[in-house]
Amino acid sequence: MKALVVDQPGPAAQVRIREIEDPRPGPAEVVVQVEWAAVNFADLTAARGLYPYASRPPLVPGVEVVGRVVPQSPDETPRRVCAFVGSGGWAERVSVHRDLVVPLPDDADPLAVAAGLTVVATVQLCADQARMESGEHVLVHGASGGIGSVAAQVLKGAGAGSVTGTLRNMDRAELARAHGYDHVVSATRFPVEVPGTVPGGAVDVVIDGVGGWTRAASFALLRPFGRLVAIGNSSRGSEEPPTGAELRAANTAVVGASLGALSSRTPHLATAYLERAVRDLACGSVSLPVDVLAADRLTDVLGLLEGRAADGKLVLDLTQGVEP
Ligand SMILES: NC(=O)c1ccc[n+]([C@@H]2O[C@H](COP(=O)([O-])OP(=O)(O)OC[C@H]3O[C@@H](n4cnc5c(N)ncnc54)[C@H](OP(=O)(O)O)[C@@H]3O)[C@@H](O)[C@H]2O)c1
Repeated sequence: MKALVVDQPGPAAQVRIREIEDPRPGPAEVVVQVEWAAVNFADLTAARGLYPYASRPPLVPGVEVVGRVVPQSPDETPRRVCAFVGSGGWAERVSVHRDLVVPLPDDADPLAVAAGLTVVATVQLCADQARMESGEHVLVHGASGGIGSVAAQVLKGAGAGSVTGTLRNMDRAELARAHGYDHVVSATRFPVEVPGTVPGGAVDVVIDGVGGWTRAASFALLRPFGRLVAIGNSSRGSEEPPTGAELRAANTAVVGASLGALSSRTPHLATAYLERAVRDLACGSVSLPVDVLAADRLTDVLGLLEGRAADGKLVLDLTQGVEP
């Protein structure tokens, strides 16, 4: 089969289209014929050789897909599904643990589900890890990314009192507000402008995928009993946690959330998150802008991701296979 392959993961990684072996499913796995494969920050991390849940070389990025389960016998009909595959989704076929495969509802828009599965499930996981309570005030970094586009919608649906987002490119502020943010603060005005957006000047929960000094400054914005959820490190800065003494002094907590880790180590614990995300995306209660990358532009994918060039979430069109 054909796939988008990164032969040399690293800072100058490129994808190219080439033949690789068909997946050989393990006992608890099925093979999915891919139609749509989303593009995530994790794919860039994998291409750089830094994503711990990526497959061994030849590296094929791609954590989530929509497609059809390849039948095991001639009388089986190919079920339409979406799946969190963790790695290998930018290919014609991918094998995946059964617990990470969710049937696609008949009325669902396959593109919307392909685009949103990981980010919606991740934000739901964050709300649970933070033990977020009704009425709480949440700060989300990167309000126009994939996570950011759905975060305010998911958190408000789970009862958040208000959601403040930070953004590097303020041209996208209106879009962020349209996606449910009560306040949008420029990353260049962070942290000084955040206290003015929340009652009492402190937040209950932070969802931080940026890391580095942003994480340290966010920690200082938590009120007593506040929780910071560390979900990523897109700035590639330091991820040093606060010390025990700092946590005691602030009466706060730092927790982690990773759909990739949950899916690869304990897939049965990820199923409920994926099912919930599919329900929310299928009924349209959560949505995000989508940019389709057609067959003739597939190899541009890493550059577009790195440059944050697309306004919406990138999804690869593999309905006609992986063609150059
Ligand atoms: N733990 C999990 O399960 C999980 C799942 C999905 C994503 N994540 C993490 O969440 C973060 C966002 O992912 P995504 O899917 O939203 O990514 P995305 O759609 O590719 O967007 C990239 C995001 O990262 C921000 N960003 C990129 N480089 C940055 C830098 N040098 N300094 C500050 N911000 C930077 C961007 O901010 P701007 O909008 O301001 O450009 C944008 O919000 C990443 O760290 C990713 O690894 C974690």
